[in-house]
Parts: sequence; structure tokens; C-alpha cells
Amino acid sequence: MRLTVLASGGGSNFQSIITKIQEGKLKAEIAALIHNNRVCGAVEKAEKAGIRHMHLAPSMFESQSDYTRELLTALKEANADLIILAGYMKMLPLPVVQEYKNKILNIHPALLPAFGGKGMYGHHVHEAVLSYGAKLSGVTVHLANEEYDEGPVVMQRSVEVKEGDTPESLAKRVLELEHDTYWRAIQLFCDGRVTIQGRKVVIQ
Ligand code: GRF
Repeated sequence: MRLTVLASGGGSNFQSIITKIQEGKLKAEIAALIHNNRVCGAVEKAEKAGIRHMHLAPSMFESQSDYTRELLTALKEANADLIILAGYMKMLPLPVVQEYKNKILNIHPALLPAFGGKGMYGHHVHEAVLSYGAKLSGVTVHLANEEYDEGPVVMQRSVEVKEGDTPESLAKRVLELEHDTYWRAIQLFCDGRVTIQGRKVVIQ
């Protein structure tokens, strides 16, 4: 199975996918990295692993439709079976979501539908979990649809919120769990074990 990864930041999830492929645990190949930020960790990781990378940001184009067209062209060229959002900080244009319906995965650092939606990213998520007083948080891998963090859930795993946790300590535990979760969810697709029935992802 061919993957195209979209990332904006440190790229630790991207790296965990590269590592699992190198270890032979994830039976997939990465066709390309598309990023919207020239100086990000994800680009360094792509270079190190010899993965083709491409800079595509809305600000590089005169209009949103030009950007959308370029992104669709880049995705077609990469010819991927699955698009993996790994800390991609831009909302994908609607035509992209429609073209790749049920083929775009995202990872969110909390148990959706709690602590998701617009503005819920990075430390904001963990701050919200702690100030709510939730006793569990975790990781959600889901299909991307037209709304932030609302697509059908593929996999969820939890971590306990501990007394004395700070947003940083909770973020660290959640991120470690993300690294052990994303590749497992992708492998389900590689193994052909996933069927989508409306809002439900059924794993055989
Ligand atoms: C992760 O916490 C992921 O859940 C969220 O963005 C963060 C990306 O981190 N969507 P990294 O760039 O993979 O280190």
C-alpha cells in the first residue's frame, strides 16, 4: 500500500511510520511527504529516509482554487492508496476530501468526540483535558471528512490522566501512544480488514 503523508511540524508521527516500515512491521511504502512549512522536522526526517518531499502551502498561490488544484495534482502523482495526516495543521480543501473519501486518515491526541474540533490542537487539547478534570485521555485515529475531527473512528487507545499531570507530561504520554497506534491503524487498511458502513468503521 502506498502512503502520502502530510505534515506541518516536528514529524514524530511521520518518523514512527517510517521506522515501522523499516522494521518490516508496517507493510507499506511512503510515496511522498507534502508539507506546508519548509523548516519543519518532518522535512528533515524525509531527507534522512530518502523520501520525496514537496512544499505546498496556500500562501504560495493566488487563490484557494489554485492551491487546491496543485494539491490534487501532487496527490495524483504520488498515486497513494491512503493519505496520512500526521500533524497537518491546515484544513484540507473540500474537493480533496471528496476525491479521497474514506482514504484520508488523521490522528488526534485525545479521545474524540471529546476535546476535538476547531482550535483543539497541540497543547490546547491537553490543557482542556486537565482543566475539565477528565481521568482518561488518549489517541484517536479517524477518517477525515468535511468537519474538523468528526470523521469515522478507526482506532482509539487511552492513557490515564495522573494526579499532578501538566499539559507537557500528558502530551508526552499521549504522543508516545500515538507512535504505537498510528501504524497499527494503517496496517489494518493494508491487510484489507477495514470496511466502512456509514459512520462506522468495521474491523474484520
Ligand atoms: C500529534 O499530537 C497529532 O496527534 C496531532 O499533531 C501532533 C503532531 O506531532 N495531529 P508530530 O509532528 O507528529 O510530532
